[in-house]
Amino acid sequence: MSTITTDGRAATVTALERTRGSTTSVPSSGDAPPAITVTGGAKSFGRGAGAVRALAGVDLTVAPGEFVSLVGASGCGKSTLLRIVAGLDEPSEGRVRVGAPMQGATDASSDEAMPARDRLTACAYMPQRDMLLPWRTVLDNAALPLEYQGLPRRTARREASLLLEQFGVGGFDHAWPAALSGGMRQRVALARTTLTGKRALLLDEPFGALDALTRLEMQGWLLEVWTRLGVTVLLVTHDLDEALYLSDRVYVMSARPGWIVDEVAVALPRPRGEEIVTTPEFARLKGRLLAAIRGAGRREER
Ligand SMILES: Nc1ncnc2c1ncn2[C@@H]1O[C@H](COP(=O)(O)OP(=O)(O)O)[C@@H](O)[C@H]1O
Ligand SMILES: [Mg+2]
Repeated sequence: MSTITTDGRAATVTALERTRGSTTSVPSSGDAPPAITVTGGAKSFGRGAGAVRALAGVDLTVAPGEFVSLVGASGCGKSTLLRIVAGLDEPSEGRVRVGAPMQGATDASSDEAMPARDRLTACAYMPQRDMLLPWRTVLDNAALPLEYQGLPRRTARREASLLLEQFGVGGFDHAWPAALSGGMRQRVALARTTLTGKRALLLDEPFGALDALTRLEMQGWLLEVWTRLGVTVLLVTHDLDEALYLSDRVYVMSARPGWIVDEVAVALPRPRGEEIVTTPEFARLKGRLLAAIRGAGRREER
């Protein structure tokens, strides 16, 4: 079993090996994906009377290899929080960390903050829009992270082509992004995200623009990818069914300024099939999420 190093190239090989070779979801101990910790995360945009308070005192953890979703109404600060975890922005207050807890740390509060540039190195972030470059073919879009890592173009393309095939978009290497359906674009974008070799995936409403059936198909497929790669996932969505179907745990955010009003463990058995949404336990959990969101809304109105 290869080990993850801070060298992106080695990590990429590992990700690909996992994708090609094994069907196990259990990483070896030396190969553990990173954890995510946010402690007292607050964010304001601008100053004075025109300032927008987007986040207020967010506490959140994601264990190594865990699949966690963050749900909340539009505008509550989900994307802001994800961008901060990704290292694209800093919180105004609080600490954010991606990686193993500090030696001897007993809880999240004893974690040290990590600079944004180190978080950027540790995470792969997929923004709300798929951001495929329209002037590059599907293959050249997917191969970008490998080219950035200094791989020769031919090798990068060969590896990217293999992954595209495994992600169900084989045969479209030379197509332009504009020629693909929404679901296929998301597969390419996710292939590109995993080719970064990073072991923490931050996904911002990846299926938000898809029709209901394609969305279901893509959710099942994301579960397979997560199982196969053994990565840590933090997913943002406003779709409660999606959050419950996919996650080990769900955080519910209040209306702006966002903070965590509830945390729900999803003890539904895995592997999960689409039919799980019709079970009584699923309905019970969904009721709890709805109540948390409604309650948070009422608090905000006062
Ligand atoms: N760069 C920014 N400058 C000013 N306001 C921002 C910026 N980014 C986000 N906001 C504001 O912060 C709030 C939360 O936005 P966002 O995180 O995108 O919410 P969500 O993803 O939950 O829909 C919104 O009111 C939004 O207008
Ligand atoms: Mg958003």
